[in-house]
Amino acid sequence: TMVDKGNYRHFMQKEIFEQPTVVAQALGRYLDPNAGTVCLPETPFDLANIPRITLIACGTSYYAAEVARYWIEQLARIPVDVDIASEFRYREPVYTEGGLAIFISQSGETADTLAALRHAKAAGQHIAALVNMPGSTMAREADVVLPIHAGPEIGVASTKAFTCQLAVLASLAVKLASAKGEINSNEEAGYVKELNHIPALMAEVLHHDEALQGIARSISTARDILFVGRGIHYPIAMEGALKLKEISYIHAEGYAAGELKHGPIALIDEHVPVIGIAPEDSLFDKTLSNLQEIMARQGKVVMFSDSETKQEGMFAQLKMPSAGFLSSAILYAIPVQLLAYYAAVEKGTDVDQPRNLAKSVTVE
Ligand code: G6P
Repeated sequence: TMVDKGNYRHFMQKEIFEQPTVVAQALGRYLDPNAGTVCLPETPFDLANIPRITLIACGTSYYAAEVARYWIEQLARIPVDVDIASEFRYREPVYTEGGLAIFISQSGETADTLAALRHAKAAGQHIAALVNMPGSTMAREADVVLPIHAGPEIGVASTKAFTCQLAVLASLAVKLASAKGEINSNEEAGYVKELNHIPALMAEVLHHDEALQGIARSISTARDILFVGRGIHYPIAMEGALKLKEISYIHAEGYAAGELKHGPIALIDEHVPVIGIAPEDSLFDKTLSNLQEIMARQGKVVMFSDSETKQEGMFAQLKMPSAGFLSSAILYAIPVQLLAYYAAVEKGTDVDQPRNLAKSVTVE
């Protein structure tokens, strides 16, 4: 299929702005909003009886797995392991009989992920492939395919595939929880409603485009940038750092906000911007105090939060909409994508074809 950039300067920019549409499309395949239920493809195993789930992926897809762990464990109370595909086989994993291994891959062809899939399959695990390419090798070899319906993704740095992966994984978590009886039908309907509202909130976040362009301009000369978050937003911090590295070539790391004091805070001075992913949830006060420690050391703090309170000494604050447990991480993915995008544009790099990277990596 021929895909063009339309009015956008880069495919990545187009794909970022397409997210409300494609996430709605993906959710449309998994949710029945009238019945208030999640509908999955038929599985050859019982969803109510999964003793353990292993999520395996590379790159951005791996961060989707890290986010999904919080949803599945908290809603369905099933223990979840998350592994980087290139490491998985070599730790000689102890499989649980009847366990479900879910392989997350935009392309469905990544060599490391495919090798891990075959390892888990040979060990008798149930295999699910959460892919964007329904005809891919992983889709063919899996027991069940969960397509993410993002449409073709051209930019090497993954954006819309990430949020569609998250939308499908959140739906899956709700389904597992209801199959197991951890949530009742009213609660399921409540989650379905929350999921359905995500595209509208994403569109709202995209209106911050210009503000993020301004912030990106002022941090694009930095040599190092830290992204910090807690809980389910910690993987979003890691994804933000990955996006920035991939396309702007600025060194960035994602850290659990509470872990800063155990090392990385030694890096902080007036030259190191820190991006805080800090929704006003139960962890907000702790994250805020971590950010204040950075400001006390002259770090340039940018906070993404739904908190209205103006924080003294902060370099910039971006006002996000308030969101629930299933929507929040998906929404905070957008400002980190736009920040990386505009930092790269500012630096004049080849946004859609960053140096040394490939869209799909078919070597181990
Ligand atoms: C490559 C791409 C990344 C992607 C990763 C995993 O490194 O550059 O954007 O996240 O592969 O790809 P997959 O197709 O398995 O999701």
